[in-house]
Amino acid sequence: MPTPNSRSLLALMRSRRSIRRYSGGPIPQASLKCLTDAAALAPTSRDRKPCAFHCITDRAQLEQLARAKAAGAAFTANAAAAIVVSADSTISDTWIEDSSIALTYMMLEAEALGLGCCWVQMHLRFDADGTSAEENVRRILDLPEQHRIVGFLALGQPEENVSGGQL
Ligand SMILES: Cc1cc2nc3c(=O)[nH]c(=O)nc-3n(C[C@H](O)[C@H](O)[C@H](O)COP(=O)(O)O)c2cc1C
Repeated sequence: MPTPNSRSLLALMRSRRSIRRYSGGPIPQASLKCLTDAAALAPTSRDRKPCAFHCITDRAQLEQLARAKAAGAAFTANAAAAIVVSADSTISDTWIEDSSIALTYMMLEAEALGLGCCWVQMHLRFDADGTSAEENVRRILDLPEQHRIVGFLALGQPEENVSGGQL
């Protein structure tokens, strides 16, 4: 099992940065499990738990995710993994909030595990042809229409001394 370090939550929050460049090393399955466990622990409105967490490590699918919107996702092609958060909007009308909290929990767990990650927004974003990024992700993952996609985390072993830029 990966051992989270003993930094306080505030220290993790201070040190966390969006990381978009990865060394190429894989992420252990146990670490991916910690990340989805963290996401599943996130609170949801009325405890409805509308979210599902999809771990993507297949290179072809990562490349498809990188093209799901016109800008701001390309680095996903070089990520070791992506965890897509989908939420069934027929289960809860707070799918945006619930998904966002889950993504945030995973970002902090990634920091605790020493992994680099970056939130990649899909909701309200479009590809170069004007197709909804959410629709593209649903097609990649074969998800039904009512499954809404706020975004996903791109993940990898961080390339040293790289910190995030502004988008
Ligand atoms: C709601 C949200 C959407 C974001 N979408 C993207 C994105 O699509 N692509 C990207 O490269 N970064 C994205 N980011 C990362 C932000 O650009 C980043 O968090 C911000 O610039 C602050 O940098 P920091 O995370 O290193 O503190 C997003 C962050 C949030 C919270």
